[in-house]
Amino acid sequence: MRALTGIKPTATPHIGNLLGMIEPALRLQDTHDAYYFIADYHALTTLHDREKMRQYSREVAATWLALGLDPARTVLFAQSDVPEVAELAWLLACVTGVGALERAHAYKAAQEAGKDINVGTFFYPVLMAADILAYDSDHVPVGKDQKQHVEMARDMALAFNHRFGEVFVVPEPLIRDEVATIPGLDGRKMSKSYGNAVEVWLPSKQLRKKLMGIVTDSKGVDDVKDPDTCNVFSLYKLFATPDQVAALAARYRAPGLGYGHAKQELFEVVDAQLAPARERYEALLAEPDRLDAVLADGAHRARRLALSVLGRARDACGLGRAPRWGAP
Ligand code: ADP
Ligand code: TRP
Repeated sequence: MRALTGIKPTATPHIGNLLGMIEPALRLQDTHDAYYFIADYHALTTLHDREKMRQYSREVAATWLALGLDPARTVLFAQSDVPEVAELAWLLACVTGVGALERAHAYKAAQEAGKDINVGTFFYPVLMAADILAYDSDHVPVGKDQKQHVEMARDMALAFNHRFGEVFVVPEPLIRDEVATIPGLDGRKMSKSYGNAVEVWLPSKQLRKKLMGIVTDSKGVDDVKDPDTCNVFSLYKLFATPDQVAALAARYRAPGLGYGHAKQELFEVVDAQLAPARERYEALLAEPDRLDAVLADGAHRARRLALSVLGRARDACGLGRAPRWGAP
């Protein structure tokens, strides 16, 4: 089975990305042939700054590696190092109705927000389908917000196969229920666009300050509290051991615990878990040449696979005569 996923280099990764997608994807390394990439073509729909594109791309690569991506087993690459996906997107666009793209949540949200929408944003799900189908992916680990996009990729695979024969593997999203939507500081879905995100690699002091900003109700130390409706507790559950979770829940239900104490407990478990990886992350970022070498090797491996899949697709629809389809 092959697993594939991507993350856009549009900001420093946050805890929602970490728990919702990166960690579940890293676990698949043991059971799947994994291809994970930096979705820089997708980032270009909103990020028009050369230096930031480079910096965030390295940060995303360093994040994967610091958290345990093993480049000997897993292919880590930049989307734009395999430009063939842009060609495949064209082939898929030709079997996709405009109506399907108009129904995409991300596009509709941009429209409702009155944003000035570029064609890349409208076309986004087609390029994402090309990413998935170019590598014969079976499973796509993502957070819940990406489910519709993966379903659109399925539809495009089925539509293409229906017209041209069995060319593409039909993919499935893999979404873990317990981390499908991680809440942010204000309780809404954690997202860089809501300004409620906790960045994964904040130094301890800043991490603590950020977590102290979690929105709670106005109950005081002597009031009993409901852990199940508390934003602090819902993050705590994701980092603490079952014993720690039970102990803190009991303290919520009795007088004597202020939200400040709960936030301190949260900070301690999060910081303890992230500190060793944070050191690895800083060390990786200090060696951009090493990061670039990992990405160059990944690009080579990814491109070889994409070329063969795209060769199948071109042939199925009667395109192309030049013998360019082989190893890059
Ligand atoms: P953002 O919503 O902050 O822009 P991205 O769209 O770059 O984040 O998401 C990258 C990956 O992380 C996707 O697979 C997405 O589903 C997942 N993800 C993002 N935010 C969350 C969240 N709050 N909870 C669970 N998964 C998330
Ligand atoms: N759209 C995804 C996001 O915003 C990123 C992405 C691009 C992706 N191509 C993909 C995810 C292919 C999974 C598979 O998070």
